[in-house]
Amino acid sequence: MKKVRKAIIPAAGYGTRSLPITKVIPKELFPIGGKPAIHYIVEEAAASGIEEVLMIVSRNKNLIVDYFDQSLELEAFLEKENKLHLMEEVKIPKIHIQYIRQPYANGLGGAVNLGKQFTNNEPVAVILPDDIFINNQQPGLKQLINTYETYQQSVVALKKMEEDQLKNYGVIKGKEIKEGLYEMTDIVEKPLYSAPSNLAVIGRYILEPAIFSFLEKQIAGTGMEIQLTDAIKNMLEVSKCYGVEIKGDRYDIGSEKDYIKIVNNFYNSSKLKT
Ligand code: UTP
Repeated sequence: MKKVRKAIIPAAGYGTRSLPITKVIPKELFPIGGKPAIHYIVEEAAASGIEEVLMIVSRNKNLIVDYFDQSLELEAFLEKENKLHLMEEVKIPKIHIQYIRQPYANGLGGAVNLGKQFTNNEPVAVILPDDIFINNQQPGLKQLINTYETYQQSVVALKKMEEDQLKNYGVIKGKEIKEGLYEMTDIVEKPLYSAPSNLAVIGRYILEPAIFSFLEKQIAGTGMEIQLTDAIKNMLEVSKCYGVEIKGDRYDIGSEKDYIKIVNNFYNSSKLKT
């Protein structure tokens, strides 16, 4: 049985919805309860059994690389000042991380395609670092991995959305084969009119290595970007793909409304520092 050991975290986008702050601070580093958003993503990957991560960054995302680096100077300072209790705060999740730069943000499909060599013919998870899931029972990614382990085919995460929201997402058409589990028959990126269902694809995927042969050939689609959705649609002609409705709350931190909501929820929960 094939296992999902590797994950790609694409973080090279321009974050246009969150300008002007994203000129200097990547949205993936927006703080939530004192930790940057992408820290929760790496924790989710580790908690889902991922062993190796490839982060896709760009010229103005060096702060992300700095954040996950060990800070020997700071650790020495905390030790000298007898502030060892703060050491926990600077610890990063135990997982192997490597980086590659996307020279130009030509779309999520273009970013994921940079991970071909990294995946080396294994199935790979793709985790969008601006989509945060809170589920106290099971990490969002683990819910997808469970389905992958049963069917050994690509799986995407789904959420039912209101009709006016569907134009912002990839939307699937599919047959429900079990409660919350769909066999996909079609997928459309940002449908302007008549979406095929109310099931939107959100930021978690498990992809079979075959995806790279479609990404390589993929031409720019919606928004003049290379769309992962289009490559998945083409892959459907030769292999199956499943969709799983993810349990838990989801926050798109590129949306100011969701960002404020998640920060408030942390504020109201015990996870917040005094
Ligand atoms: P988004 O479309 O949500 O992020 O892509 P964006 O493009 O940065 O932000 P907006 O929409 O303009 O506000 C989802 C994830 O994919 C990454 C982004 O960094 C984000 O984390 N991404 C997107 C890339 O790595 N490369 C790209 O070319 C596009």
